[in-house]
Amino acid sequence: MKRSLSGIQPSGVLHIGNYFGAIKQFVEMQDDYEGLYFLANYHALTSAPKGEDLKKNTIGVILDYLALGLDPKKSTLFLQSDVPEHTELSWILANVTPMGLIERAHSYKDKVAKGIKPNMGLFTYPVLMAADILIYDADVVPVGKDQKQHLEITRDIATKFNETYEKEIFKLPEPKIVESVAIVPGTNGDKMSKSYGNVINMFASKKEVKKQIMSVVTDSTPLEEPKNPDNNVTQLYSLFATPEEVEVLKEKFRAGNFGYGHAKNELLDKFMDYFAPYRAKREELVNNMDYVYDILKEGAEKARKIAGAKLEIVRDTVGLLKRS
Ligand code: ADP
Ligand code: TRP
Repeated sequence: MKRSLSGIQPSGVLHIGNYFGAIKQFVEMQDDYEGLYFLANYHALTSAPKGEDLKKNTIGVILDYLALGLDPKKSTLFLQSDVPEHTELSWILANVTPMGLIERAHSYKDKVAKGIKPNMGLFTYPVLMAADILIYDADVVPVGKDQKQHLEITRDIATKFNETYEKEIFKLPEPKIVESVAIVPGTNGDKMSKSYGNVINMFASKKEVKKQIMSVVTDSTPLEEPKNPDNNVTQLYSLFATPEEVEVLKEKFRAGNFGYGHAKNELLDKFMDYFAPYRAKREELVNNMDYVYDILKEGAEKARKIAGAKLEIVRDTVGLLKRS
């Protein structure tokens, strides 16, 4: 069975972009791939969160994973920080990684352009990500489109290592990106992101979700006039609706006398129907934290076995002396 691996930073509360762009794929792949899904909490440190916040978000994301259908019987679920082998491999990989490769990383450049003062963690972020992936010999990595370049960097680092040590130590992973949901737009029309304040959260209160949906940016075409059917609301609606239902909505926009407010209410109804079972499941899990922590413990044990064995080979290859 091929191995699928992915991670999400617990750097905030997850949103429907994370779900449709990433987690939904993890869940759908569970029967056909050996899955390893983790919480990238070392990566989350790059934004220097308060310790208490990081812990709270970490618990939030593991609850989300489980509520949304990741099944610990099928997939290995763990915290990155429970497998410190990732960070050791990251150091080793840093020594075959050209500076220029990392200097070209869009996500780093975008953050700097936004005025974030970069720290070394943020700069070397892609090297740790390469370690996360390569240490498990992952075949595929399901992610949203914004992670495509990080996957390319991972492949470049693996190639560089294999060439340097003249051995096929690392497998080159393939990204798995679902084009139709590659970039879920946020309420302001930009990419939805935890860091841009433009999200719709799966597990917020209905009141909060309504507020988020009502804030979706639209134009000011008067109510009675026909509207461009390909607007932000339609795009979000199409995540939850069948193609026929999307066509019906578009027809209403074209006909006029149908406002964005009406469409947003329909979107809210669809959202609530879609996530209702997951929201109920999450409530159950919150009251069962021992079960949740046990899953993480078991997941870490399984992951460490694989990562530890791979790291042994790497240590030997690069010449870190081992006494028997
Ligand atoms: P964020 O930008 O909200 O901080 P992350 O960088 O933690 O999200 O992304 C976690 C996963 O969710 C990644 O696989 C990423 O590609 C995916 N993802 C994030 N935002 C979106 C979006 N708007 N559309 C599609 N996928 C997304
Ligand atoms: N960089 C990813 C993101 O922001 C998170 C991540 C860290 C990841 N390590 C990974 C994703 C390994 C896939 C594989 O979304």
